[in-house]
Amino acid sequence: MSAQAWAVVCAAGAGERFGGERPKVFAALAGRPLLAESLERLEACEEIVGIVVAAPAGWEEPVILLAEELGCSKVSAVVTGGSTRGGSVRLALAEIPGEAELVLVHDAARPLVSEEIVARVLEPLGRGWEAVVPALPVADTVKRVEDERVVETVDRGSLVSAQTPQAFRADVLRTAYAKQGEATDCAALVEERGGRVCWVEGDQRLHKVTTPDDLALVEGWLGES
Ligand code: C5P
Repeated sequence: MSAQAWAVVCAAGAGERFGGERPKVFAALAGRPLLAESLERLEACEEIVGIVVAAPAGWEEPVILLAEELGCSKVSAVVTGGSTRGGSVRLALAEIPGEAELVLVHDAARPLVSEEIVARVLEPLGRGWEAVVPALPVADTVKRVEDERVVETVDRGSLVSAQTPQAFRADVLRTAYAKQGEATDCAALVEERGGRVCWVEGDQRLHKVTTPDDLALVEGWLGES
């Protein structure tokens, strides 16, 4: 039997860089809220047994209605997100049953999650890794800067850029979030504690929607993934 995991969908925050009247996860992607894509795709994953969504404050009801409309019966709770992404994950984790062994954390801002990538991030957890990050090698030359000045060129050979969904042993993720630390991704908290974190090949189509241009880019990939 394949690994069984719970999923946290991070869908809170205003998405200020995106702009617009509604939170970013309600921006239209091919005529549907951006969030619909992640919900529907995670619902269809055999490995996923339950889903908890962190919703933007005041948008809990529309998230519940959307999940119902899509027939996402695995969505067991919708929580009001925190003021940071880490806060949202912490609040959502509290709704995951204690017996869950594996947890996937995914950004709704990366709508094109696939069953293939879910299987890819879950697999190393069966080989002793505690956390798994999908990531892509960095294509550009990377420079460290201070204000206007370029300080150095960083060796990109050892750099990758991290995406979601990230997969975790539930106990490890809970311990990482038990402290009040902040990080831009969950794996960083596990790394800080000396946890066993590995990376697997990510997918360009897991591109994060930050601006309306990103939305257009992702929409172009929608038919093929
Ligand atoms: O803002 P950004 O796109 O980097 O956020 C990454 C993901 O985290 C998004 O899917 C967003 O909805 C989510 N988030 C959250 N709670 C916050 C801020 C962001 O769930 N307070």
